[in-house]
Amino acid sequence: MIERVKTGIKGLDELMGGGIPRGSTVLLSGGAGTGKTLFGIQFLYNGAIRYKEPGVYVSLEEEPGRVIKNTLDAFGWDLNSLINKKLLSVIKAELYNFDKLKALIEDEVDRIKAKRLVIDQSAILGLFFEKKFQVRKSIFELSKMLKNLGCTTVIVSEIPEGTPAISSFGVEEFVADGIIILHFLREGNVLTRALSVRKMRTTYHDTGIHPIQITKKGIEVFPTEQVFEQVK
Ligand SMILES: Nc1ncnc2c1ncn2[C@@H]1O[C@H](COP(=O)(O)OP(=O)(O)OP(=O)(O)O)[C@@H](O)[C@H]1O
Ligand SMILES: [Mg+2]
Repeated sequence: MIERVKTGIKGLDELMGGGIPRGSTVLLSGGAGTGKTLFGIQFLYNGAIRYKEPGVYVSLEEEPGRVIKNTLDAFGWDLNSLINKKLLSVIKAELYNFDKLKALIEDEVDRIKAKRLVIDQSAILGLFFEKKFQVRKSIFELSKMLKNLGCTTVIVSEIPEGTPAISSFGVEEFVADGIIILHFLREGNVLTRALSVRKMRTTYHDTGIHPIQITKKGIEVFPTEQVFEQVK
């Protein structure tokens, strides 16, 4: 039996046989405003509160103070109290040194003995390097390091609206053990939020596109409902 890490996001774990296989690296892809950051935070918050698993949130973009305040304002989740109990760490990496980023992640995971890790978001890695091949090489390096760390990791990947790509650099999806996609689907004049599990190595997973809702309780997936992508 493989050990699983429950996201605790309502309706999601059952789409992949009970949770993410422990130690996996999962790419979380989606367009702007699809709920990527919320997903990452909810994964760590649930991990800390329900499963007593410490988690590290590495922001490559937003200031930790803002992330913490926004989460409290929107969902009432008190991240600071988890940080004080060493069940959570929210850090921001400097944007000029890739080796420092790796060292920072390793140190922080080690400091709080983290079992869960979120990196938000990978497109920023492009800013560390001048050339695309360097970025790709760095992603391979990072994934190797993540494997050794033993955490269950979510790497957020922003994808431009309306493109078939599911990652910024075209290699992340092959390095990742799993891929979860957050969609904004157009149905007539309304945009519907939805989620699909595109890949999850070593386990059964559902392949439908399911509606999700974002409320004051965070993301909820509706596993028995489906939405259909319109062919353009
Ligand atoms: N309390 C709330 N109730 C309902 N919806 C909310 C609430 N708080 C935030 N949202 C919605 O959740 C969405 C998700 O935001 P989030 O920052 O997680 O998306 P993202 O994919 O990380 O965006 P970005 O592309 O800017 O990084 C917001 O666009 C907003 O519509
Ligand atoms: Mg975000």
